[in-house]
Amino acid sequence: DPGHKQIGSRMDVNTKKMKLGVAVVGSESSWRAANTESIKTAAGQDLGIELIMQNAEGSQARQIEIIRSFIRQKVDVIAFTPIVETGWDEVLAEAKAAGIPVMLSDRKVKVEDDSLWTTFIGSDFVEEGRRAARWVVEHKPAEVGETKIVELQGTAGSAPAIERRQGFEEVLSQNAAFHVIASEIGDFTMESGQKLMGKVLQQGMKPQVVFAHNDDMALGAIKAIEQAGLKPGKDVTVISVDATKLAFQAMLAGKLNMSVECNPLLGPQIVKAAKDLVAGKEIPVNIITAESIFSQETAKRDVTTRKY
Ligand code: AHR
Repeated sequence: DPGHKQIGSRMDVNTKKMKLGVAVVGSESSWRAANTESIKTAAGQDLGIELIMQNAEGSQARQIEIIRSFIRQKVDVIAFTPIVETGWDEVLAEAKAAGIPVMLSDRKVKVEDDSLWTTFIGSDFVEEGRRAARWVVEHKPAEVGETKIVELQGTAGSAPAIERRQGFEEVLSQNAAFHVIASEIGDFTMESGQKLMGKVLQQGMKPQVVFAHNDDMALGAIKAIEQAGLKPGKDVTVISVDATKLAFQAMLAGKLNMSVECNPLLGPQIVKAAKDLVAGKEIPVNIITAESIFSQETAKRDVTTRKY
């Protein structure tokens, strides 16, 4: 790969700090705060790295501009979390032409030419969606009748929203008793979860289950359920993805029923992969985090150990 050869010749790894440009997607959730902090900490602990971190605050245009500024600054490696899957062909081709390898952190892209990125480090979002649905099927058995579900999706066009939905539907499609009666599009923020759930309830829908694509949206939905005079976790089962400390607290309070783990602590792997790339080592195309699910039964124990 010509891009990698140029890297080797541009930098002497023994004497110069490696410039790592990180284009953060935004500040939408507590998961994101933990993810950003993890990258900062891991890079900060490595004397061989100069971290240049910029936050796109939820704008793809801004994120593209940040990547272009990294190219102008001649960073050695770019790591970024694409806000949505598409629309990156041009800017990633520019990075490749400049000989700068691009790593995908947390979210994937869909581009014509997959040689425009080197590695993806993050979670299996499809599996996360499947895990959520399997839990529903297990806890709302078909014998008890039809189960109506409301889905609160994350950012439209983003890998986690597309893939969590896909995995969730895949499992539910094999079970005739489960129906998604509404699937609303939000943006992974607590505000959007509250607004969308408020709308659903005002429209008179009576779901037994709410599947939020992340904890922040679930916490917003919990507020809306309470405002409607219902008991979240009891009258309406609430499940989500991330498994942050706030989610464990909500589980302890009995308001959230389950959260599928999505590990934000990707900093050490990103730093290692960036260094390996610059050193000319082969790195895996996909570095996938091992994850599980958390429920009210273990929340008491888990809340004490959770850092984020
Ligand atoms: O891309 C990961 C998702 O983005 C997390 O689940 C969500 O909390 C975040 O905002």
